[in-house]
Amino acid sequence: MPLRSSKIPRDSVHHPLFARFYARFSVNADRHAGVAAHRAELLAGLSGRVIEVGAGNGLNFAHYPAAVADVVAVEPERTLRQLAVRSAMDATVPVDVLPGTAEALPVPDETFDAAVASLVLCTVRDLPQALAEIRRVLRPGGELRFFEHGLAPGPVRATAQRALDRTVWPLLFGGCHTARDTLAAIRAAGFELGTYRRLTVPERGLRLPSSPCVLGRARRPGPSAAA
Ligand SMILES: C[S@@+](CC[C@H](N)C(=O)[O-])C[C@H]1O[C@@H](n2cnc3c(N)ncnc32)[C@H](O)[C@@H]1O
Repeated sequence: MPLRSSKIPRDSVHHPLFARFYARFSVNADRHAGVAAHRAELLAGLSGRVIEVGAGNGLNFAHYPAAVADVVAVEPERTLRQLAVRSAMDATVPVDVLPGTAEALPVPDETFDAAVASLVLCTVRDLPQALAEIRRVLRPGGELRFFEHGLAPGPVRATAQRALDRTVWPLLFGGCHTARDTLAAIRAAGFELGTYRRLTVPERGLRLPSSPCVLGRARRPGPSAAA
């Protein structure tokens, strides 16, 4: 497949401190906050060619089902990308890790049967553009699987989230925002929203501004649902 790698800005996302923090935090969250089970649920039943945007250190890779032919994992941050390359070596399906951003995916149109976004749409600089790109690279009828944190139900928590987003949160957490309405953005990008569920992560214990999550599926409108 021809990749437009010569056009990719190599380090358009540079968060070395956050990357080191996330590399440790994410492994703990997978083990102790139930996130590994959410990753397995996110990816269950996928097949064919898959693109994962903002793959981080590659914690989804171990959960791809055997019916997946290959995964193209795009990650802009150098430290996390290097860790993703290591995770790819242990994956049971072929995973190719590429530099690039969700807003300018380095792949041709209509190449993939499915796209995966986990804990990344909170962080992309331009959410409508990222979703437009995901839509572009999915074949008609292709599926977007998402596991994202976002806007809390209820005005009090949402107001607190917005205040955090205007101040410290993006600075502390690598550009992350807590108050994005991911479901509304997915619909606005022209996807047909499928099944989804709201969940709190972690389910028990400390509630964080990033605890309200959605996990589900959407589809690029098109003729075929088959992979
Ligand atoms: C919270 S981490 C999540 C990583 C991974 N998806 C996971 O589920 O663990 C957010 C990721 O988004 C990446 N990221 C930041 N800006 C991005 C962009 N514009 N396009 C794609 N990924 C981006 C970060 O480098 C980081 O890997």
